[in-house]
Amino acid sequence: MTTVTNNIRLAEMVPTRAILSLSEDVANGLMQAPRSLPAKYFYDEKGSWLFDQICDSPEYYPTRAENMLLAKVAGDIINEQQPHCIVELGSGTARKTRHLFDACSKAGFSPTYIPIDVCDEILIACKNALEKEYEWLEVKPIVGDYTGGLGNLPRHSQCNLVVFLGGTIGNFSEHEARKFLAELRATMTEKDTLLIGADRIKPPEVLHAAYNDDAGVTAAFNLNVLEVLNRELEATFDLNGFEHYAYFNPIQSRIEMHLVSMRNQSISLGSLQKEIAFIEGDHILTEISRKFTRMELENLLVEAGFEVTKHYESEGDKFSLLLGRPV
Ligand code: AVJ
Repeated sequence: MTTVTNNIRLAEMVPTRAILSLSEDVANGLMQAPRSLPAKYFYDEKGSWLFDQICDSPEYYPTRAENMLLAKVAGDIINEQQPHCIVELGSGTARKTRHLFDACSKAGFSPTYIPIDVCDEILIACKNALEKEYEWLEVKPIVGDYTGGLGNLPRHSQCNLVVFLGGTIGNFSEHEARKFLAELRATMTEKDTLLIGADRIKPPEVLHAAYNDDAGVTAAFNLNVLEVLNRELEATFDLNGFEHYAYFNPIQSRIEMHLVSMRNQSISLGSLQKEIAFIEGDHILTEISRKFTRMELENLLVEAGFEVTKHYESEGDKFSLLLGRPV
């Protein structure tokens, strides 16, 4: 299957099980309390660029911590794995992945790069930029939602490096994360390697600031999901009627990001022919972002069928990068 955007054909990730449509997710998630939306709907073109801007905000430490760590260890990873293919789940603009490509340039390896993302515009921008920056690099993007199953993840000859960065594993509940990693493990062989990034537990003030940046980029990112619903479902959300609210829940060790209704209001969902009533203070959970201990991360990989071959930690143990080898 292919999809065409600006005359560039993108391969599509074919799901191995039914993926709920936006209408179904909204019907399930917004019609009854506690209200929630899957985090993947943040990432339309505008949301993808807003996330990139979050990464540049002074308060959002994960990107910088992961970036510095990866810059330090990319050479080791590439020389050790010598991948023929780098597959990245949720690649976005692939800003951090460049460290792996730099290491490949240095070592004279030229693996194919397969970025997978839900946003086609960002994939095309990423392909164009990377193929200019690295003359040896062939980028074969795949557009799609990896939560629809990984059975059709492309497999390249022998040695794949599967990359899952940014701490996106933290967007999954414990149960979802286990299921996802086990499924990923099932697509891999002993010659492949998983490189996964995850955010660590740290003082609540630091976490709070990272999801409440002063410039309000995270707030705009959060509210953008309402614009997605307005556009895709002919909904009537007034972005001034909701406020960004993010806090660290220490019991569940996760950031929760919500949109809080500032008044009593009724929103119509045109294409669903439904109305949703909010009273002041009602809220929608739009994202969880779990923060892990060192041990939790290692156990997560081991229980999914990986051996942890390396556990790199950033300065101050802010962020972890783990290498997992299927066993
Ligand atoms: C891209 C999922 C890793 O959870 O920190 C950033 C998304 N949300 N600020 C995260 C996000 C609010 C980010 N991930």
